[in-house]
Amino acid sequence: MEPGQQRMLPRPHDYYTDIMAIDIERIRSDIKNINAFNATPGRGTTRLTFSAEYQGALNYVLSQFNQLGAAVSICPGGNVRGRFAGSDGNAPAVMMGSHLDSVVHGGRFDGVVGVVTALEAARSMVEDKIAHRLPVDVVIFPEEEGSRFGRGLLGSSIWTGRLDAGRLSAIADADGVAYIEAMAQAGLKVTDNRILRSPALAAMLEVHIEQGAVLEKQGARIGLVEAITGIRQLDVTVKGTADHAGTTPMEERSDALQAAARIITAVDEIARHNGPRTVATVGRIACEPAQVNVIPGRARFSVDVRDPDKALLEAAVAAISRTVEQICNARKLEFDLVRLSEAEPVNLSDSILDLLQKKARASGITPHSMISGAGHDTALIAALTKAGMIFVPSRDGLSHCPQEFSRLEDIALACEILLAAAVELAA
Ligand code: HGY
Ligand code: MN
Ligand code: MN
Repeated sequence: MEPGQQRMLPRPHDYYTDIMAIDIERIRSDIKNINAFNATPGRGTTRLTFSAEYQGALNYVLSQFNQLGAAVSICPGGNVRGRFAGSDGNAPAVMMGSHLDSVVHGGRFDGVVGVVTALEAARSMVEDKIAHRLPVDVVIFPEEEGSRFGRGLLGSSIWTGRLDAGRLSAIADADGVAYIEAMAQAGLKVTDNRILRSPALAAMLEVHIEQGAVLEKQGARIGLVEAITGIRQLDVTVKGTADHAGTTPMEERSDALQAAARIITAVDEIARHNGPRTVATVGRIACEPAQVNVIPGRARFSVDVRDPDKALLEAAVAAISRTVEQICNARKLEFDLVRLSEAEPVNLSDSILDLLQKKARASGITPHSMISGAGHDTALIAALTKAGMIFVPSRDGLSHCPQEFSRLEDIALACEILLAAAVELAA
């Protein structure tokens, strides 16, 4: 099947006498209704954690949970769980979901696809009265992107107990609003303060857009994730001396931005020569006082380094740290280098991979197994339970931009596979 060709979705016949059907039109309207909450309409999607737009989108999903009779819990850090009770209330849960927050001027599908497919799978289970022993949880992790509070996977880090109250209290947005304060201002009050631990979970499943071009190049409609890359996010501040641009001779300057520029160039070189899958990005930079005729006294920038191999990832971070030190020492400048967030490279569960492959084939699809270059909350949950991810193709591999696009038919197909796997896991 060419990816572009339309095809009626196959029905999963091999495990039900009567047909269990997801509804592609409900998925369409969920995506539309969630994306109606956007701070930058016409300029991509911006939905920052605990913002009015975020709460609008979250309230839409909560209204769906209520219609379906799910028990809603607000968990540590503002993680939201809609529980669809099984026959055994004490059994560990099958968890599925993703995030609703976005990058600034991002796309309509990143995170949203994982939420709407989990919601639709749960709807189908309720509608078709599919009996299940284990509870099925649809979850929404806040601040997956780190766009408001400066570090990614924040909600899932809190919920899995990786971020203690002390470190959390130091996290605030650019306006100085602390994370917990922003959560309270949004009206989110923790109703279940239990930290997520292994015994509470039987499995974790997340559908996500691929955000790269591998599936499109392979002509595959579905990707199954074998491993998720490791991430280190750093914050570097170089401290020089603001001074007059006209009267300060070149050899007497303590120009923070000139040092930062050389470090940033070196970051790119280090990534290119570190390992075959190493990537590094300087995505945010600012200098002070940012005046045309003033030598910058301070320069601050982010570094996002990734590699699926832990040793190579650490080697890249070590090389970058050395470079910061060498360049700043050579120019007699002070610096701060803070490790903002880290997610270890993680291999996902072979048994879940096998199950997803079986379900994909039952839907008439040969999935493509791959490594995720993007980070996901599932990487943290995978430390607690067996976890799997289903990818849908991103057109031209574009993501984190207004051009982000995935086909509704591929999203629905992923939903069908998710549903079939969740039903088997929760049986
Ligand atoms: O940055 C990432 O990999 C993800 O999109 N948050
Ligand atoms: Mn995402
Ligand atoms: Mn993202």
